Amino acid sequence: MATDTPLPKKVLVFGATGLIGKYIIQELYNARSSFEKIGFFTSKTTVENKADEVNEWKEKGVEIIVGDVNSEDDVNKAYEGYDTVVSALGRNAILSQVPLLKVAESSPTIKYFYPSEYGTDIEYGPSSAAEKPHQLKLQVRKYIREHTKKLKVTYLVTGPYSDLYFGPAGGDERVGSFNLKERKATLLGNGSEQISFTTMKDVGRLFVAALETPATAHERILKVNSFTTTGKEALAEFEEQTGAKWEVSYTSLEELKRLEEEAWEKDSPIKTVFTLHRIWLEGGTLYKVRSNGEIGFEGKEERLKEHVQEIIAKHD
Ligand SMILES: NC(=O)c1ccc[n+]([C@@H]2O[C@H](COP(=O)([O-])OP(=O)(O)OC[C@H]3O[C@@H](n4cnc5c(N)ncnc54)[C@H](OP(=O)(O)O)[C@@H]3O)[C@@H](O)[C@H]2O)c1
Repeated sequence: MATDTPLPKKVLVFGATGLIGKYIIQELYNARSSFEKIGFFTSKTTVENKADEVNEWKEKGVEIIVGDVNSEDDVNKAYEGYDTVVSALGRNAILSQVPLLKVAESSPTIKYFYPSEYGTDIEYGPSSAAEKPHQLKLQVRKYIREHTKKLKVTYLVTGPYSDLYFGPAGGDERVGSFNLKERKATLLGNGSEQISFTTMKDVGRLFVAALETPATAHERILKVNSFTTTGKEALAEFEEQTGAKWEVSYTSLEELKRLEEEAWEKDSPIKTVFTLHRIWLEGGTLYKVRSNGEIGFEGKEERLKEHVQEIIAKHD
């Protein structure tokens, strides 16, 4: 793509061994011929606990920088020689991105910053501002708008990961569940509501596509996905590919809202999942236009059929 904007060449990832960070670093590595340097910043604890994984990346030529994400000195040193920062930090480290951004803004080398988003559109509509799971990410966007100028920031908004949604529920199947082992599903609403999903592999691939189409504005919001489907369509795909009729139950939207309220009152570990599933069921992943084309990804997405094949193959 013809552009005067320099392409990101030296990419440093935070959270590279996490749930989605793994897919991002893998796809970056697959596209390594486009980059001069790929590295990740991680903690001493992770280097000890995930020694094999970290060593494997080191052997492949990925630079491993060990430090404390909350130390401005460590971060400042890590940024030397990089032009792009990618954060895939987990939900409980979202605010650690504020000092990362502060240091990046004053760094002589960092030009691009990708905050940890990779999920629900936190500015979908007027009610988004009050949604509890969005609060920390909204604070990060506010910080970016008020305190950064030089950085070019891209938010990659992917909606729900189909790998998780089309899996068994942890804790309470009324939150929505696809239990392949037991051939049992709990569909949300009436099962006919559309939801847009991104496969975790596509999150990594879309991320690289975004990187290779650099932002020209201070802020770029990319709303991307792999496919749009309904609970019933997905179930039909699972039934066809497993050659079995599944046992199905439903959680209506009203019931989901009641369970969500109860989960927050009880401080349940899956309270956030209840809220996000309710937002998705209410249409919070449906956009007039998706951004796949803007980053040259239209037509390259994984499809429901092949994704279900992958889920079944992984399980067997
Ligand atoms: N769309 C969806 O369905 C969906 C699902 C899950 C997550 N997400 C989003 O994806 C993003 C990444 O989430 P994730 O689940 O992949 O993250 P994760 O696996 O929970 O954590 C990723 C990394 O963040 C660092 N980290 C975690 N807690 C930390 C703490 N308290 N202090 C310092 N560092 C910490 C760790 O890096 P080191 O080990 O290197 O220190 C960890 O490996 C989030 O924005 C999340 O909201 C979306």
